Amino acid sequence: MAFNGLNKEIARLILLQRIELASPFLSKIRKSFGRYLFTNFITKFFISPKSINKKYYSLMKNEFFELQKKINFNNKEILSIGSGMCGLELVINEKIKNNKFTIIEKNYVSKKVKYGWDEKNIEGYNNLNLLKKFMFQNGMKNNFKIYDFDRDKLPFKKFDLIISLYSLDYHYDFKIYLDFFKRIVSKDTTFVFDTIRPQFFRLLFEKVEIISSTQKKIHSSKRIICKKFIN
Ligand SMILES: C[S@@+](CC[C@H](N)C(=O)[O-])C[C@H]1O[C@@H](n2cnc3c(N)ncnc32)[C@H](O)[C@@H]1O
Repeated sequence: MAFNGLNKEIARLILLQRIELASPFLSKIRKSFGRYLFTNFITKFFISPKSINKKYYSLMKNEFFELQKKINFNNKEILSIGSGMCGLELVINEKIKNNKFTIIEKNYVSKKVKYGWDEKNIEGYNNLNLLKKFMFQNGMKNNFKIYDFDRDKLPFKKFDLIISLYSLDYHYDFKIYLDFFKRIVSKDTTFVFDTIRPQFFRLLFEKVEIISSTQKKIHSSKRIICKKFIN
C-alpha cells in the first residue's frame, strides 16, 4: 500500500521532514555535499518518489498502530502541529472515520534545512498548496483545515487531541504555542509529542506519561502523552 499522487516535489518534502527515509546513498552524499546542496539540488533530482512513498506509508502506519495502543482516535477534533505531509493524519482518516483535522504548519522550505534545536523557529519544510492537494488525493474532503503558522489567525475551538511528531519541543520550544494551547484545551484534551526534555513537562501538566524513546542521529527524544495544565 502507498499514498496517491506522491510526486517528486512531495517526495522531496517528505524526505526533508523525515530524513531517516534517505537511502544510505543519499545520506552519504548529504554528508559530502553539505546542507545547501542537499536541500536545493540533490533532493530535487536524485530521489525515487516510488520508494519514498512505500517507506513513508509504512512508517506512518507503524506510527499509527503504536499510538493506537495508547490513544483512542474515535470521533475526535484533532489538532496537528507540524504534521509534515500529513501521512499520519491520512492513515488515521483511512482507518477510523468521523475525525476532524486542523493542521498548523509552515509554508516554506528553508534554504538549507538544518536539523536539531531551532532556537528562533525559522526552519520550515512544507508547501501548503501541495499538502492540501495531497490530502484531497488521499480521501480527505470536508474534514480538514490547514493554517499557515506565520500568516493565519489560529483557530479558536476546543480540541480533543493535539499531535506533534518530531516537531513541537523536538525542534522548537513548546512555549511558542503555550498561550494558544491554554485557550483551546479542555480538561480532557490529550497531547502527544516528541520532546528532548520530558521532565520539563512534569512542571506544566498534571499527567505525563512517557510512551517511547527514540535515539536518532540528530538528537534523542521521548514521546510523551500529557493531560491537564497545572494552573
Ligand atoms: C521534522 S518535521 C516532522 C513532520 C511530521 N510531523 C512527521 O512526523 O513526519 C517538522 C515539521 O514541523 C514544521 N514546523 C516548524 N515550525 C513549526 C511551527 N512553529 N508550527 C507548525 N509547524 C512547524 C516543519 O515545516 C516540518 O514540516
